[in-house]
Amino acid sequence: MSTELPDSAAFPSAEPPSAPTRRTFIATTTVVGGAALAGGLVAAPPTLGAEEAVAAEAPPGSRVSLTVNGVRRTVTVDNRTSLLDLLREHLDLTGAKKGCNAGACGACTVLVDGSRVNSCLTLAVRLEGAEVTTIEGLAKGDQLHPLQQAFIDEDAFQCGYCTPGQIVSGAACIQEGHTDSPEEIREWMSGNLCRCGCYVKIVRAVEQTVRGK
Ligand code: FES
Ligand code: FES
Repeated sequence: MSTELPDSAAFPSAEPPSAPTRRTFIATTTVVGGAALAGGLVAAPPTLGAEEAVAAEAPPGSRVSLTVNGVRRTVTVDNRTSLLDLLREHLDLTGAKKGCNAGACGACTVLVDGSRVNSCLTLAVRLEGAEVTTIEGLAKGDQLHPLQQAFIDEDAFQCGYCTPGQIVSGAACIQEGHTDSPEEIREWMSGNLCRCGCYVKIVRAVEQTVRGK
């Protein structure tokens, strides 16, 4: 006796022959959609040229001219660029350090028109025509600024990461005349943190510089 089953006993098709299959449905809608686009029924998105696409994606930028350590510099920067990033990334002046990037540590201290600023919080595009002095601009050629020499003499650093900001801030502190006592120096340099805890020697370096003036 034959054990073969008749064709009619095979697994039934999941869909009756007359129902559209998923494949035929997708093919049909693709053809209809394409025809609608070709016929102008649906507006095709505008296409951009390569240069237009780059320009559309680029953030707004501005040209700014400022004097850095006595040299006139003109750069085009993203409007969001901080002075710290302008110095470090556009002008290769990496003396000012990025510690917190939030105005809390003073590692990025530079002078703008003679006043101390946290360069991480200062927008570069607002400095048109400004005079900026960084740690690189304190020495006169091979001759260190007296406070730089005092930091060496007093061994006023360990890792050195805060040191550029400490020296720029200390030089301004001396210039401003806030150096009558260790307490006054500490108060007026309180925005410059040192994780290595070199505060006693930093104050001594400032005092040494004041004595040598
Ligand atoms: Fe600017 Fe810390 S990096 S204050
Ligand atoms: Fe290391 Fe000041 S010397 S943070």
